[in-house]
Amino acid sequence: MALHRALDLTSELKKRGDAVTVLMTRGATKLVTPLHFQALSGRRVFHDVFAGAGDDVYDHLNPARDGDVLVCAPATADLIGRLAAGLADDMVTTTALAWTNRPKVLAPAMNWRMWAHPFVQRNVRTLTDAGWHLVGPAEGDLACGEQGPGRLAPVADILAAL
Ligand SMILES: Cc1cc2nc3c(=O)[nH]c(=O)nc-3n(C[C@H](O)[C@H](O)[C@H](O)COP(=O)(O)O)c2cc1C
Repeated sequence: MALHRALDLTSELKKRGDAVTVLMTRGATKLVTPLHFQALSGRRVFHDVFAGAGDDVYDHLNPARDGDVLVCAPATADLIGRLAAGLADDMVTTTALAWTNRPKVLAPAMNWRMWAHPFVQRNVRTLTDAGWHLVGPAEGDLACGEQGPGRLAPVADILAAL
């Protein structure tokens, strides 16, 4: 599953000496626990805009304050739609809106029929027109058992883009 590759990506980034702060959507937390990513990144994972920590309640802005590059991997059809619409309803979308003047990488992953849908293609175009750098998706076996374009790009490709 694409989300498991996000665990590998976190490990690889950490191994090569990068500081990694992981942000998760609500959907992502149903498939992998924030603790997984915390263990691999060695840092607090942001997954709830309203969580705050200590006196600091501005989590919706904090990760965007000092990062070098934002990567959304795997970017689901839902996340891509919310990003393209300019929504700010979770940690990933608030961070993306507050991420000014620095690179943003989008690595989509979804079923090939979802990827082919004109709404998804339109949303991806909106993001690339706005300066997001697209990596993948790759073509091949999908987690759902079907085949086609929609696999998350290999970790090596995402690392190269970063
Ligand atoms: C096991 C499983 C795997 C999923 N894989 C994907 C996927 O690769 N791409 C996708 O767009 N949606 C996938 N979905 C559906 C999303 O989880 C769902 O659309 C969710 O609302 C995504 O929202 P979020 O990424 O904004 O949290 C999957 C759902 C399940 C239960």
